[in-house]
Order: sequence, then C-alpha cells, then structure tokens
Amino acid sequence: MAAQNAHNPFYCGPVPRPLRSSLCPIYTGTGMIPTLTWTPEGVRFIDQTRLPLEESYVLATTYEEVADAIVTMVVRGAPAIGVSAAYGVALGAKKSQAATAAEFAPEFERICTRLAATRPTAVNLFWAIDRMKALYANLSDSGVPLSQIKERLLAEAGAMYEEDIAACKAMGAHGAALLPEQGGVLTHCNAGALATCGYGTALGVIRAAAESGKRIHVYADETRPFLQGARLTAWELMADGIPTTVICDNMAASLMRQGKIQAVVVGADRIAANGDAANKIGTYNVAILAREHGIPFYVAAPWSTIDLATATGDAIPIEERPAREVTHHAGKQLTPNGVGICNPAFDVTPAKYITAIVTERGVMRASYSESLRAMELVS
Ligand code: MRU
Repeated sequence: MAAQNAHNPFYCGPVPRPLRSSLCPIYTGTGMIPTLTWTPEGVRFIDQTRLPLEESYVLATTYEEVADAIVTMVVRGAPAIGVSAAYGVALGAKKSQAATAAEFAPEFERICTRLAATRPTAVNLFWAIDRMKALYANLSDSGVPLSQIKERLLAEAGAMYEEDIAACKAMGAHGAALLPEQGGVLTHCNAGALATCGYGTALGVIRAAAESGKRIHVYADETRPFLQGARLTAWELMADGIPTTVICDNMAASLMRQGKIQAVVVGADRIAANGDAANKIGTYNVAILAREHGIPFYVAAPWSTIDLATATGDAIPIEERPAREVTHHAGKQLTPNGVGICNPAFDVTPAKYITAIVTERGVMRASYSESLRAMELVS
C-alpha cells in the first residue's frame, strides 16, 4: 500500500527513504555541493537554472560574468550571492591592467558598483562588497602595493567562503534542537547548500536535526515561479537521503490542518532591526498559516543577513523580476499575450509571526529589537 501511495503523484504522506539520486553524479550528500568555487581561471558555478535535470557548470572569467551569473540566477540565495560578489571583486582586481593602487581606484569602484547593481534585496550582497571595499581602502591607504592588494582581496573572499560554511554548521547546531524528534517540517524556496557555500541555513537546521537522529520528513513548497523548492531543495535533500515531499505552494494550509506539519523553517534575504524578515515570495503566506495552526515558524540566517541599519521590513527593497518568469515555464508560454504580470521576488514576514531567529551566534526570540541588538555584541 505504501509503495502504491508513493507512486501516486497526489499522495502527500510519508514516502520510503529515497536512494541517492541518480540525477546528481557529483553531489552524493553531506550538504557540501560545489555551489561556487574559485579556480585559477575564475569563479565556477553549478548552474542552478538547469538543476535538477542537468548538472552543469558555468565559468565566469570576468567580474561582469560574475554579475551576469547573479542576475540570471545561475547562482542565487543570499549568502551565495554575497560570497560570489566578493569573488567577483577579487576577479576584477586580478584581471586589472592598472599599474598602481591609485590607477586601480576608479576601476575598483566600477567593479563594486556593477556587482552591487545585480540584485537589491539580499543584504549579504552589500555586506560582502562593503567588506571588500573596507579592506581595499585600508590597504591602499597604508601604501600596500597593488599586487599584494590583489592577493589580499582574494584571501578575503576565501575567508568569507569558509566563514559562511562555518556559520551554516553553527546555525544547524543551534537550530536542530528546535525541531521535533519526528514529524513534518515545511520549508519554502531553497535555503540549502545551493544558496550558501555549503550545508545551508534552513536546510542546515534540517540536516543537523536529521544527523542527530531526528526523523524529519521535509515538505518542500515548490516555490513559484522559479521553483527553487521543487527543483533545488528536493534535489539536494534527496541526495542526502532526507525524506522529502514536494507540494504546490497552495497546499500548505491543507497539510497543516491535517496535522502533517510540526514546524516551519525558512531562510532570509534581509532581517530588519525589528525582526521583520524578507524572504522568497510566499514566505509571508506560510507564516500566517503557521500562526493560524499553532505551528512554530523559524527563520535561519547568518549574521550577514541581519541589517540593523534598516529599521523595519517596510524599508527593505523588494526586487521585481522579469515577467517572463511568470508567463513562461521551460520556454513554453502559459498566459495570454498582453496580460498584466506581477513578479515580486520577495515578501516581508512581520516579526510577530516569527517564533525564533536562528543565527550562528545563537537563537533569538521576540522582542527582536532587543535580542538582535544584544546579539550584535556577541561575536
Ligand atoms: O531569488 P532567490 O532564489 O535568490 O531567493 C532565495 C531565498 O529567498 C532564500 O530563501 C534566501 O536567500 C535564504 S538562502 C540561505
């Protein structure tokens, strides 16, 4: 009966533990997908627009190509975007023909400006670029030669890469305790290894819970229109052998009512000083549903996602993506010519719906205005 149900596309209950996916020959689990990798030629990205059916890579050999990879979502997810931009800055510096730091200065500004103009919502992008800018200013003001500045910029991007993985692991350790010993955990979008340098934020929490022996069944919202849940979250959790069921975005309420969801855990692109959290469009819906059904709603994000300079979620810029992402799927048109289209990529979940925020520094609860400020002092 179970096997029969598992093959029924409308069945939402537990499914047998999956075998490692034959669709991912390189990634075989552990949460360490080569999302982005520095190589002597440039930055290599796993192409997230082609997963899960094709595992292919894109090599960006200039900073402009890194910017294009971010805009087209070859690489996506707030922490991954930030570290990609940092490598983009390092790559731009490496390729520069300038002879001195003074000659390089205007070019450095152009590189940073181009990378900063890729996507507006994830604050990790600006955090990473600002960190590269601060290092550059410091070294240049100290009279360090350009050749050494280039090396230091690359080392800084590498440090951000390593720090991101460490942050995800720490978030996993803090957050796993919040999840039930067994039951359904719903997530939205992809806040996994593919959205970070490895292990993931929300999926890091789920991975750590599974590694600790908790029997978690993940319900992955498909996440229209880009399908990060259906394509990416499902792909990486399957490879880890974590039982996963993909649901359409409009099914969450019904599953919650049936008692199939015991917790929700999502990532974030920017968390304002009062705890309001921007994340993939549709997250706000899930938060309201979770509240209505008495289900805890957790947000997991590294400290680089916290934006204490932005007072509330109302001030978070929300990216509007191309209409074609809604009108078309896999090259096929879905909607009538000329119909109006709205495609905001993110929404803001008010802090009042968030049960806890998990960062590498620990778990915070309301009032977030106070707990975030207090945690800022912890490093
Ligand atoms: O448009 P995307 O795919 O970049 O959006 C990604 C998300 O909304 C993620 O949930 C968020 O960046 C957290 S990733 C750890």
